[in-house]
Order: sequence, then structure tokens, then C-alpha cells
Amino acid sequence: MTHAFDTDTTGLGEIHRDAGRVAVDEKAMINARADVNQLLPLKYHWAWEKYLAGCSNHWMPTEVAMQADIALWKSDDGLTGDERFMLKRNLGFFATAESLVANNVVLAVYRHLTNPECRQYLLRQAFEEAVHGHAFCYICESLGLDEGELFNMYREIPSITEKDSWALRYTRNLEDPEFATGTPETDQAFLRDLVAFYVVFEGMWFYTGFAQILSLGRRNKMVGIAEQYQYILRDESIHLNFGIDVINQIKAENPHLWSPGFQEEIRSMLTEACELEVAYGRETMPRGVLGLNAELCEQYMHFITDRRAEQLGLAPIFGETRNPFPWMSEVMDLAKEKNFFETRVTEYQTGGGLEWD
Ligand SMILES: [Fe+2]
Ligand SMILES: [Fe+2]
Repeated sequence: MTHAFDTDTTGLGEIHRDAGRVAVDEKAMINARADVNQLLPLKYHWAWEKYLAGCSNHWMPTEVAMQADIALWKSDDGLTGDERFMLKRNLGFFATAESLVANNVVLAVYRHLTNPECRQYLLRQAFEEAVHGHAFCYICESLGLDEGELFNMYREIPSITEKDSWALRYTRNLEDPEFATGTPETDQAFLRDLVAFYVVFEGMWFYTGFAQILSLGRRNKMVGIAEQYQYILRDESIHLNFGIDVINQIKAENPHLWSPGFQEEIRSMLTEACELEVAYGRETMPRGVLGLNAELCEQYMHFITDRRAEQLGLAPIFGETRNPFPWMSEVMDLAKEKNFFETRVTEYQTGGGLEWD
């Protein structure tokens, strides 16, 4: 039996009055035959669970008090020159990274992911990226930072430009109106984009940044920014895990795509991405700061890269088994707890502010 709706993977085609009801087995991650506009019956419960988890983590940047940060930022001896330098470059990277990730979700991934429960999660993720973008506006405004300096940094600081250019290629490829999944080549192009954004951007490149800011927070510096980064980290860890699940599900449904040659290609992507991050670490921390330095960040990125390879079912790249920032795992474990806020308030917060019932 041929389906008149075979080619309607967007959900924008004519409505087929006579098409039968959706059978759960017809649902698929890419190139689906089932109507993408019908959420039920659910097939991928993991996607729906992540949508619910995202909703239960709702937060807004303006709920976080910034008075302590403002006072510290304005005082002459609150932060060292190296700390200010690192902080600004960190904020500069994230300020536009949120837009790049959001663009990829709405202009590339959403169109080609042909499953409604996954799309439901993408809609939630897109909103969360808007909240994250809001956080950087709020921080910029609170501290009275130069908007142009922060938001134009991705065009002015070479290591940021290099990272963003690397990732943008993958969005651009999919956003081409002529691009369609359905051949091994284009399906693999879609997988590359998912790796570039979910695994590399959100799963590797954000982590040096999280380590830098949470390291400040652990020393009671810029606690309002650190608190917002913890919420962002909590959101991002779900984005990352969603991306990993999506990739692994596509692999399971289309094993021919995950050839030995393609696996090597993905490992090379992770290696390149790690090198770009190491260069960024050097440019944000020319000298050591807060127990962090470019060498430790390099080791951390090797550790994270191997972890991501493992999550994709790939052989390790660096063989780095030691995490130089074990406290980052603790923060991430905390982020998974339902009572994250209470835990964090007792262990972290010193600046007062957020009340959470
Ligand atoms: Fe984000
Ligand atoms: Fe994200």
C-alpha cells in the first residue's frame, strides 16, 4: 500500500481525509510515514518525559537577585583583572551561542525531525533558549556592561568566531530549501547537525563556561550569575540528553547510516570541536584563575569529549578517565535532584534572593 502522505514530513501538506488513523509503528524519527500533527498515540515516551521535565524546571532570570553581583562588579577590589576578563569572554560566548542554538532548533532540526512528541520537546527547548538569551540580557543590563562588546564578541574574538563558524556550517546545510532527508547522504547530514549542536555545542562547549562561572560561585563571587548558570546547566543537561537519545534512536531505526566510516567521521568532529574549545580556554584564561587554568580545562574537555563519545556508542578519543573538576559532577547531580533548589540554597547561595516554595 502506498501512502498519499508519504512525502509530507513537515505537517504542512494537504489534509488527507481518507488516510487511516495513526498506527504507533508508523511513527519514526526521520522520514516518517505517520501524520506528524498527531501527538497521540505516543511512541517515544523518553521525549515526552523530557518535555515534562523541562516544564517542571521553569525559571525566569529576573527572579534571581543581582545586587551582590552588582556591588562586587562595581567595587575596585572585588574581582581581579583576570577574573573580569574571563567573565566577560564567557558571557560574550554564551550571549550569541543561545541564538545560534535556537536558530538551529527552529530553522533546521524541527523541520527534519518527523515525530510530534520530539517536536513537542523542541518547542519547549526553543522557549528555554529564549529564557537563556534573556538571562544574558539581564546580566548585561544589571552590571551595566557594554552591549556591543558582549554581543559582538562572536565576531571579534577569534576563538569564539572559530567555534561558531564551525557549528554554523551544519545549520546552513540543513536550512537550504533544497535540502531534504531521505537519502543516506542527507540523513547523515542531519545526524552531523545533531552532533554539532546537541553533543558539541550544548554538550561540550558550554561546559568550560559552566566550570568557569560555577568556580566563581563556589568562592561566593558573582553568585547571581552563578545561580542563573546553574539553572541553565540544568536545562542544558536535558537538551544534551534529548539530543543523545534522538541520535541513538535514529541510529537504531537506520543502522545503515551508522557505518564504520561515519563513526570515524563523528569521532573526528568531536576531536576538532575539542581542539576549538581548548583554544577558547587559552584565550579566556591566558593566566590561571580561581584554581582553573587552560591546562586543566583542556584535561576536562578531553574527559567530557570521551564521555560524549561513549554516550554515542563510540570508542574513546583521548582515554582521559580523570575529571579534574569533580565538583562539576556534584553540581550536575544536584541539578538532577527534584529538590535542587533547597539543596543549592543551603550549600551555595550567600547573596539571598530567590525564594522557592
Ligand atoms: Fe541554552
Ligand atoms: Fe540548549
